[in-house]
Amino acid sequence: MRPTVIMKAAMTLDGQLAAADGTSQWISSPEARRDAHRLRADVDAVMVGAGTVRADDPQLTVRLEGQDPEQRGQPTPVIVAGRRPLPAGAKLFGRDPVVLAPAETDLPGKVLVAPDSSGDRVDLTTGLGHLGSLGLERIMLEGGAALFRSFLDAGLIDRIVLYYGALVAGGTGAPLFRGPWNTLADAREVRIGEVRRLGDSIRLDIDLVC
Ligand SMILES: NC(=O)c1ccc[n+]([C@@H]2O[C@H](COP(=O)([O-])OP(=O)(O)OC[C@H]3O[C@@H](n4cnc5c(N)ncnc54)[C@H](OP(=O)(O)O)[C@@H]3O)[C@@H](O)[C@H]2O)c1
Repeated sequence: MRPTVIMKAAMTLDGQLAAADGTSQWISSPEARRDAHRLRADVDAVMVGAGTVRADDPQLTVRLEGQDPEQRGQPTPVIVAGRRPLPAGAKLFGRDPVVLAPAETDLPGKVLVAPDSSGDRVDLTTGLGHLGSLGLERIMLEGGAALFRSFLDAGLIDRIVLYYGALVAGGTGAPLFRGPWNTLADAREVRIGEVRRLGDSIRLDIDLVC
């Protein structure tokens, strides 16, 4: 069985994940960010794309009061790499990440090769299969917009957790899913789950309807 994929994102009320200059920290409230850390604590791995590593240099650790991020039991960091270089000093490389890549690379970490038909990107079904064989059963997909779109197109998202911050971007930076939306019939039907207020943010849980 392939791992379960839970997509998580923080966005403005008008659907933007990041501004045009790549900035996105922080869109949601401190309460929402704490909630997101609790979600992280409940998965085996946390995954981001190369673009997010370049823009945000994230750590992807569970940081909750009373918990030492150095302790064992942190989710495994997973980077979905492409063909462009990644900064060798990125924080994630200090955490012995799993790197899904389209070709062999000398990036630090455990590199697993899973090329798509273009040879430049990762085939996500194959990549998830690799993660499953490492025993990683629950994956939190944390961005960014390009990777979200590829997962959506591949039909590999099981649940979405959206945190809406109390912000209106008022323009287009990076929308939640990168790429065009051509016609209404291309939209996916989803099932609305729980809606919760977290400080000045709203958490919305969504099930994808297959
Ligand atoms: N608000 C939030 O919750 C949140 C969360 C995360 C990120 N962000 C923001 O999102 C932005 C980064 O997003 P992004 O869209 O630029 O980058 P991204 O989705 O993080 O990464 C995309 C890159 O991943 C690599 N890749 C390999 N296989 C892929 C595949 N099958 N599908 C898609 N990508 C694949 C490619 O790397 P190469 O470029 O090497 O070819 C591609 O350019 C930043 O501004 C960040 O701040 C916001």
